[in-house]
Amino acid sequence: MGIELTWFGHATWRVRSEGKTILVDPFIAENPACRATIDQLGPVDLILITHGHADHVADAATVANKYQSTVACVYEIATWLQSKHQVANAVGMNLGGEKNFGFCKVKMTIAFHSSELPDGSYGGNPAGFVVTISGKRLYFAGDTALFGDMQLIGKLGIDAAILPIGDLFTMGPADSVEATKLICPAVALPSHYNTWPPIIQDANAWGLLIREQTRAKPVVLQSGESYSL
Ligand code: NI
Ligand code: MN
Repeated sequence: MGIELTWFGHATWRVRSEGKTILVDPFIAENPACRATIDQLGPVDLILITHGHADHVADAATVANKYQSTVACVYEIATWLQSKHQVANAVGMNLGGEKNFGFCKVKMTIAFHSSELPDGSYGGNPAGFVVTISGKRLYFAGDTALFGDMQLIGKLGIDAAILPIGDLFTMGPADSVEATKLICPAVALPSHYNTWPPIIQDANAWGLLIREQTRAKPVVLQSGESYSL
């Protein structure tokens, strides 16, 4: 079975395979780079949240409550979604842990960032995710700096790595190229850029660096576009 990976701008990604849908970091209504509405995204089985910042959790509860989606995130955010937003199926995880959701497996990886929820609540540790689905492995790095242990994540065998390139709040393009060297994915896709002026980047220039300096194939999507793997 193939996988359809769609970017909705910023760090919002949708994975579809075997009739199931995963949504990562739902930031839709207030996302200046997202052209789709929550309704247009369709039913969501599983929502993954990398950390508590508004540009990652903004629409998580709305989507989860609309579709009775399961939400996987760090324990503190799961508790917050349950107690403050009446989300019924929030699964609290923590760094290094993996959970089998039946149609996919999700492993929570480290990320170097911060994590405060929109109302000021403590959001626990920021994270990334390795998603195993339909025999492929996708790595969503989340908001993070470059770190050497990405090499260990690469040892899992990553088919597609979704990496921030926006700089300022996360890795910039050069560090993202270094990350790709450590992870050795088949495909690298840029994320978390061009949403607002402070994180504008030339993704095609990044793609050239990926092509020149790594073995990965760069895939630069426009908001709303999909890639099949
Ligand atoms: Ni953030
Ligand atoms: Mn962010």
